[in-house]
Amino acid sequence: MADGVVDVLGEKRALHRRRAYEAPLQALNPAWASAFRDDGHWAYFERLRAEDPVHWTPDSNYGAFWSITKYADIMAVDTNHQVFSSAKGIGLPPKPSVLPADAFIDRKVRQDGSEDDDNSFINMDPPGHDIQRKTVSPGVAPARLAEMAPQIRERAGAILDSLPIGEPFDWVDLVSKELTTMTLATLFDFPFEERRKLTIWSDTMTTGPGIGPWNTYAERRQLMADCRNYFVELWNQRVNAPPGGDLISMLAHGPDTRNCTMDQYFSNVTLLIIGGNDTTRNTISGSIFALNRNPDQYDKLRANPELIPSMVSETIRWQTPLAHMARVATQDFEFRGKQIKAGDRVVMWYVSGNRDEEAIENPYAYIIDRPHPRQHLSFGFGIHRCVGNRLAELQLTIIWEEILKRFPVIKLLEEPQRSYSIFIKGYETMKVVIPERI
Ligand code: HEM
Repeated sequence: MADGVVDVLGEKRALHRRRAYEAPLQALNPAWASAFRDDGHWAYFERLRAEDPVHWTPDSNYGAFWSITKYADIMAVDTNHQVFSSAKGIGLPPKPSVLPADAFIDRKVRQDGSEDDDNSFINMDPPGHDIQRKTVSPGVAPARLAEMAPQIRERAGAILDSLPIGEPFDWVDLVSKELTTMTLATLFDFPFEERRKLTIWSDTMTTGPGIGPWNTYAERRQLMADCRNYFVELWNQRVNAPPGGDLISMLAHGPDTRNCTMDQYFSNVTLLIIGGNDTTRNTISGSIFALNRNPDQYDKLRANPELIPSMVSETIRWQTPLAHMARVATQDFEFRGKQIKAGDRVVMWYVSGNRDEEAIENPYAYIIDRPHPRQHLSFGFGIHRCVGNRLAELQLTIIWEEILKRFPVIKLLEEPQRSYSIFIKGYETMKVVIPERI
């Protein structure tokens, strides 16, 4: 921990550790948003990896589910889409009893895992998945990234040059959100001056009542309707214009997506908004946090800026911005001696696999020059492996190249506020100060 930063979470972590080890194994449930918020989730997964790596939780706020916690087992599930399907949702939906009734008027909150016709391609199996993924892939392919890089760099530089020197500020708001929102606006060719709408809509989709931009489900529905109307309007503009390199134009003109319903189109838009925003945002914040917690690594980075790409990969592993993805078994299946039944929900805890000592040496340590830094689970594996992974790495690499040109140090001032979520593993706020410019 950096000088002056008090470990206020120590007691809470200890409490979660006691809970994790005192619970009878057969009832152990690792899906506690409060544990993630308190950085106390590690103990649950440590115990599961050691004592019951393929584990059945019979009941929780998210119903019953299997936990897959070892690196190799997660890869085995993620690459077996015939048995482990994405078509009934890739999350752990809260049980009806833990949400108010009006939450379910919103189609995006799935209570029964039923299949809708408005799925985005992350919620699909082949062949539908492969066709739609192919449509948007060129929007984040190496050639397009090379085109985007100078603009991302210019924008990153402008953000950094506008930061206060010697005055505390929230890094999440002024840097992480700003950079990723600007990039997303570029990907969509979204009106640049209105880009913060994208942040609001992304936060609307990923946070619960009272945490992000909405308090009641009626407000949430209104925000989602605004978002949908805005993007339908963008579709109408693009469909009547010549094909362009942005993602909306690709969907509006792609032979396999141009005839889709507006519900289907909007599902893909929401996937791209969430995929492109929170994950990268939380990794940018995670890099500040990790380097402050490991000052020797920060020194190493300053002395060797060529380590930036491997630091970026190490941060993506260490942070694991999406704690899990889930699947639903299409058939009865024996896995590592356990009987998974057709219809069971199976959660791949990437956050646990990335701390599996059998796959990664010294996995809790943050080591920016580790051998094979891209060997991690944070982007998933198999047919759904993150389509934006190179774009995420590019943004992080550029922002750090620009940071090191400007600031000798960015100092974390206090324990950041972590997200109250079992899915998005990130930071709501992170107070820092930049003492001086180079
Ligand atoms: C550090 C940043 C990121 C992380 C950790 C991350 C993580 C992931 C993960 C875990 C998956 C699902 C893999 C699976 O189910 O096997 C995924 C899929 C996806 N990601 Fe990312 N992502 C990041 C950045 C991005 C960016 C910048 C975009 C913007 C285009 C993006 C767009 C997507 C899309 C569209 C999918 C669905 C792919 C499919 O179903 O075939 N992600 N991502």
